[in-house]
Amino acid sequence: MQSRREFIANSSRVAAAIAATGSAASPLTGCGRYAAIPAVMPASFHDVSGSRSLRANAARHGLVFGSAVIIHNVQTDPDFAELIAEQCGIVVPTNELKWVALRPAPDRYDFSRPDFLLSFAESHRMLMRGHNLCWHESVPAWIQTPENRPRARQFFIDHITTVCSHYAGKLQSWDVVNEAINPGDGQPGGLRKSFWFEQIGPDYIDLAFRTARAADPHARLTYNDYGVEYDNANNTEKRRLILELLRGMRQREVPIDALGIQSHIKAAQPDKIGKGLADFIEAIRQMGLEVYLTEMDVNEDDIAADDPVKRDSIVAQTYADYLRIALASPAVKLVLTWDLSDRFTWLDSGPTHHRKQPNRPQRSLPFDRDYRPKDAFFAIRNSFDNRPEL
Ligand code: G3I
Repeated sequence: MQSRREFIANSSRVAAAIAATGSAASPLTGCGRYAAIPAVMPASFHDVSGSRSLRANAARHGLVFGSAVIIHNVQTDPDFAELIAEQCGIVVPTNELKWVALRPAPDRYDFSRPDFLLSFAESHRMLMRGHNLCWHESVPAWIQTPENRPRARQFFIDHITTVCSHYAGKLQSWDVVNEAINPGDGQPGGLRKSFWFEQIGPDYIDLAFRTARAADPHARLTYNDYGVEYDNANNTEKRRLILELLRGMRQREVPIDALGIQSHIKAAQPDKIGKGLADFIEAIRQMGLEVYLTEMDVNEDDIAADDPVKRDSIVAQTYADYLRIALASPAVKLVLTWDLSDRFTWLDSGPTHHRKQPNRPQRSLPFDRDYRPKDAFFAIRNSFDNRPEL
């Protein structure tokens, strides 16, 4: 097996050899993972760094590409840090800005890890976004005590004000409210019966956005949600409810700049991605909002074949099919995967993985566990290159 460094070194040698001889036959096609790449490819295809990185290719097509990162991994793994700096124009902390991580006690904030990531991002000329200020998960135990519950509204305002002020002018965007729609909870507007909904009432969403804007007038304020990608009944209803929510916010002049579509999609699904998503993005565009693909990955548990070459090819096609629809709209400005390497994907501890594929680690991201690019990398890069002129 080649390491990532060997892969990059070999790719450069191959490119040089091809340039020198005029032959396009690649010796890489005989080795390991690259058996799937056709024998005759332009030399530049094999180079995934510099001008051929996802970061650079995205930028050429009006996009910023990036990834969520678990900050500890950037701090402790220099190869991973190098990969992130090479491929990402934007980063977002996976967990470290959530309430539980940032707010261990009512009177204490721990900005150390996100501050580290911000300086890492700045030193590599990357943007950073924030995730998130308000979610039904990651609600600290201390705020749920009988003593503190009645003070939830004030804690909420103080938290958003303190955190947004700390990063004012430094973040590209904030996921202000995350996953607030859950029709199954039976509330008006399909609102989720979260801790915040129950303690503050349905206007907690408007309150969060107004408070964030007051503390940081520069960050693009985003509503972020999942389950809107497919042409099935559940996703159609969720799209309708989100449009209703956002239109209401616009009418009430609540400051909001973007919708985040999480983009946790699945391979080998009977449901299709098509007109529903395209019409949804267009409706968002017509409201004057930007669209960010904030947490893209492909869950491949439903692929029957175990062969990694086949699985990689199906995963890559799933990315390509999704991005062909999403990137057709000029409203889409950011594309982030939810981590960059299979080594760190949340999908291996996701809700159904241990039942469906307990012995098969996910191959869901552009880079494998050893940071070598997979078919998914090339599919994503091609999707950027194939983006219609906007
Ligand atoms: O850091 C602790 C570690 O000290 C402890 O030993 C271990 C034991 O379980 O837990 C570790 O924390 C875990 C953390 O991930 C870091 O790996 C938490 O238990 C676990 O709940 C947490 O899961 C995260 C999850 O959100 C909940 O916050 C996932 O990493 C993260 O990928 C996931 O991200 C969400 C987005 O925020 C919103 N959209 C869906 C997405 C995927 O679920």
